[in-house]
Amino acid sequence: MQKNKSIVLGITGGIAAYKAAELVRLLVKNNIDVQVVMTEAACQFITPVTLQALSGKPVYTGMWDASVPNGMPHIELSRAADAILIAPASADFIAKLVHGRADDLLSTLCLARDCPLLIAPAMNKQMWENPATQRNIVLLKTDAVAVLGPASGDQACGETGLGRMLEAEELLYLINAHLQPKLLKGKKILITAGATLEMIDPVRAVTNISSGKMGYAIAQAAFEMGADVTLVSGATALVPPMGIHTISATSADAMYQTVMQHVCGQDIFIGVAAVADYSPIAMQAHKIKKSESSLTLELKRNKDILAEVASLPNAPFCVGFAAETENLLTYAEVKRNAKKLPLIVANLVSDAMRSEENTVTLLDKNGAHPLPRTSKIEVARLLLKHVNNLLK
Ligand code: CTP
Repeated sequence: MQKNKSIVLGITGGIAAYKAAELVRLLVKNNIDVQVVMTEAACQFITPVTLQALSGKPVYTGMWDASVPNGMPHIELSRAADAILIAPASADFIAKLVHGRADDLLSTLCLARDCPLLIAPAMNKQMWENPATQRNIVLLKTDAVAVLGPASGDQACGETGLGRMLEAEELLYLINAHLQPKLLKGKKILITAGATLEMIDPVRAVTNISSGKMGYAIAQAAFEMGADVTLVSGATALVPPMGIHTISATSADAMYQTVMQHVCGQDIFIGVAAVADYSPIAMQAHKIKKSESSLTLELKRNKDILAEVASLPNAPFCVGFAAETENLLTYAEVKRNAKKLPLIVANLVSDAMRSEENTVTLLDKNGAHPLPRTSKIEVARLLLKHVNNLLK
């Protein structure tokens, strides 16, 4: 079992400190150990008790805390961590980091660290745009500090502009990306995800119940592993993920065209989309009015995107999905052979659809590799590790 990752979360004085509570909750939920360290100013905005309850660990606020065994929290805390994240990072704290100041516990442990440092700035837009802050940010980046955000939007002071701290969900996404080994660095990966929508008339369509979550999770996991990711997304309610080139293509035909335009030069292609096998012969220009007691829809067969990609002369490494309701492994292996795929992911519709988790079996030339039931993002990480091993 892989050891849990652990981070030190440094909270400095700013109104965005309230978002740190949600961030701690999400980190812990994602099996990341969190040690919270707060500056004195941060304690004016949110209490250590809240962060202690959410992280399940005592929160450090001062240099002279007697509870650290060797009495040197500035060394001890950063040694145990895979990274330090400062969120929110105030303009003042950023200036302190630039100059290597060490006049409180948090700035001291940043100076004494031997792990990566990430900051999520949060401040009023004028403070962010001030040349002094901009100079400081350039210097921190030169010192290999990762700067996450800030975002643009409404600010606590009533103004609108750049300076808002990223949301907790977005920070979790970027921290995960930071903590994963960069197994796919330099690799280009193309992924299809979601359901397709085959229009019958301007208001009706043939579609399916795929949520797109598994495909989006694979895109996220590939991004975390350092790949250059292009996601061709069918119909889904999901938000395009950060750092991923996402192209919307809702019909099977649009998805086919988009994939073919982008497939050249890709190292890996993963077809996760639930592509309609058939679509209406033609979309009616106007809404079909009810008249007869029954209506017959004439459908035509769509191209099989995955099979087409796999049969290209310089085909990328192709991975398919087989969502079945019965005879899972038999049907999946038949599909793998029919589409000439080195790898197929078999899952039961009841295990995968409309769920945050999935239970899959990977089928390749060496046989069946069942994975444990886990979250879709974990399944995605395990799948990509397997792909990486096969590529080697
Ligand atoms: N697929 C595709 N294009 C299609 C149909 C399927 O790229 N027109 C891909 C899916 O993204 C998936 C794999 O093929 O990776 C298998 O899809 P699935 O619908 O389970 O299988 P089909 O080949 O369509 O077979 P059937 O519907 O008969 O089960």
